[in-house]
Amino acid sequence: MKNRHSDSSKRSSAGMIIRRMPFEFSESLCAHWNPRRIEWSHMVSGASLAMPFLEPYLIRTLRKACAQIESEQLKEEVKLYMGQEGQHFQQHRKFNDTLIRNGYPELEAIEAEMQIEFDAFDSKRSLKFNMAYACGFETMALGIGHWLVRDREFLFAGSDTRVASLILWHFVEEIEHKNVAFDAYQAVFGSYFYRVYGTLYSALHVMKFSRKAYKAMLKKDGLWHNVRSRWNLLKLIARFFINMVPPTAAACLPGHHPSDIADPQWCLDWLDAHHRGDLPLAALDTNNLTMGVSV
Ligand SMILES: [Fe+2]
Ligand SMILES: [Fe+2]
Repeated sequence: MKNRHSDSSKRSSAGMIIRRMPFEFSESLCAHWNPRRIEWSHMVSGASLAMPFLEPYLIRTLRKACAQIESEQLKEEVKLYMGQEGQHFQQHRKFNDTLIRNGYPELEAIEAEMQIEFDAFDSKRSLKFNMAYACGFETMALGIGHWLVRDREFLFAGSDTRVASLILWHFVEEIEHKNVAFDAYQAVFGSYFYRVYGTLYSALHVMKFSRKAYKAMLKKDGLWHNVRSRWNLLKLIARFFINMVPPTAAACLPGHHPSDIADPQWCLDWLDAHHRGDLPLAALDTNNLTMGVSV
């Protein structure tokens, strides 16, 4: 069993707090919240749809694992991790409800499928599987967080500030708690090959549901068979894989630990700005994401 939990020097998780963000999604919210990139809007909304099912499952899993963790510090981090994930899915729930009400009721059938699958993981799969899933999903979330921050101008410029700020807040915190599920998995199980299995399984599982959701929304828009829209979608999917394959492959190496991956400066600036409380982080200026929060 590999346990690097005592290496606290590079740990961004050490200063974790639970942030309650004041997001509101009124009925005026447009599903094409990034009018320049409709397909991207739906890809992100498709991933958002999974959060109120996936993240409560992660919380339940980590809560069970916590009973087997000896380190008081790690237990404390797991509690903060659960608190952050709890905030994430509640905010996504508000966004998703507005989206469904504003013209996409077919998403409810996909939600029902997710409920069944995650409930089955709870009742039928081992804690080792569920922890490998949690650890693996967090690996993907860390890679996505780095990508979204690095590529934020392309992905979010000119978009609805509420959605951009929701997503960027969520993934700043994914970067912040990057070590927790990994350390918990290592402390309780530690099997290398099963961790790799969990990483690939969770990535494919989440992508399956995200794809179902964005496909349903594009169909509703009459764009699923539109050549230009399909080309836009394929370019975005390629962009996703170009940005996600390297960090996922690196995370599948035996010596990987999330704390070895330096946090992006913009992410650290966001955390500092939140600490100072002097910037509207729930309403970022999406026309000035180059400056980000470093103003
Ligand atoms: Fe989250
Ligand atoms: Fe997370």
